Amino acid sequence: MDKIVINGGKRLCGNVKISGSKNAALPILIATLLTDDKCVIDNVPELEDINTVIKLLKHLGKKIKKEKNTIIITGNGKLQTDAPFNLVSKMRASVLVAGPLLARFKKAEIPLPGGCAIGLRPINIHLDGLVKLGAKHFVSRGNVKIIAKKLKGTQIVLDFPSVGATENLLMAATVIDGKTIIKNAAMEPEITDLVNFLVKMGADIKGIGSKILEIKGVKKLGGCEYKTIPDRIETGTFIIASSITSGDVKILGAFPEHNESLIEKIKLAGIKISMTNKVLRIKGSKKIKPVDVETQVYPGFATDLQPLWMALMSIASGESIITETIFENRFQTVAEFIKMGANIKINSAPACRSGVKGDSAIVKGVKNLTGTKVVASDLRAAAALILAGLSAKGRTEIIGLEYLDRGYENIVKKLKKLGADIKRVIDN
Ligand code: UD1
Repeated sequence: MDKIVINGGKRLCGNVKISGSKNAALPILIATLLTDDKCVIDNVPELEDINTVIKLLKHLGKKIKKEKNTIIITGNGKLQTDAPFNLVSKMRASVLVAGPLLARFKKAEIPLPGGCAIGLRPINIHLDGLVKLGAKHFVSRGNVKIIAKKLKGTQIVLDFPSVGATENLLMAATVIDGKTIIKNAAMEPEITDLVNFLVKMGADIKGIGSKILEIKGVKKLGGCEYKTIPDRIETGTFIIASSITSGDVKILGAFPEHNESLIEKIKLAGIKISMTNKVLRIKGSKKIKPVDVETQVYPGFATDLQPLWMALMSIASGESIITETIFENRFQTVAEFIKMGANIKINSAPACRSGVKGDSAIVKGVKNLTGTKVVASDLRAAAALILAGLSAKGRTEIIGLEYLDRGYENIVKKLKKLGADIKRVIDN
């Protein structure tokens, strides 16, 4: 088992280049199931989740060639319609194969993904939408079987703007008869990237980037070349890494317009952030002001950045309230921050200033965190603990790195280049 060892207290300085977006690449790679033509996807990060989706597509019958950050996908028209348990249980985004497989072959079978560290994460919104398009589903031996005689476009109003459900339904609607209107759709940049890819494949989609997506089914989609957007969560991670170490980091290749709500909060925390010639510069300040955040769907504050914000607020000069409204179980990192000397209390009753429901954490900033042994419980928790370790006094050891490997390309190498004293070693 590997661990990360950090000797904290080093200011991060220099340039860092942002990788392609994991959460955009996953549905885009899955969307290639909608065609047999050749698709070439560029700027795909080299990560465990990408390896998992490649295995899944190969299992379903696709031929795949990977050349560093470029993935070339071809097919011969024959596809399996079942996703195997070992891959779906490893990565929930595997459920996104349901939409394209159902649209093309009128059937799909996926193991129920079950809960995960950050919450229950059901797929009822995905299934309700597919039913509206004409499908039926039933559960047999832990698998959801989805079948349809005929699928037809209609209006679907999502109960909640779920990212995965919007992606699944979008893909299904591209090649079925009639017009589908998805209302209350999620507006995350990764969805817009998927839509742009589908349009390049020949899909007819209106309302791009909005809450209402109109998809007119076409007979066939074709292959294309496409480059994914930069990863906004990795961008946010480096913005907060520079802030928490009073650093001076220049971020290259990011789309700051995808991180507006974080950038607003960073400014309120007293950290200087500027953009010149496509370079985002974050100049940390010795004194970090406390700033409340409440997670929201895009363009609100991203739930994936919430644990990282908590790391930053742990050393702010006062009290802040962090409210989680997206995932019910996203405060596990609190116990690890407390081991490092943070002063955080969780309130199950809404303590948020705007009165929105959700668990809140009251974070009273301390002068500094202290390094110790901690365990990462999910992907973003791992990143948050790295940031806490970078700012802490002394040595921090982090285990649970299988999560980190799922979502950050070369994070240790990138932080080292910025001057962090960080290494990954085998833990005996
Ligand atoms: C995606 C992202 C994840 C991010 C999340 C929210 C990927 C691969 N993952 O996850 O990093 O944290 O968006 O921005 O893109 N829900 C239901 N029923 C459903 C679907 C969702 O109740 O059918 C609930 C979930 O349990 C959760 C909330 O809705 O509480 C948000 O989930 P969703 O937007 O679907 O997130 P994911 O697509 O799973």
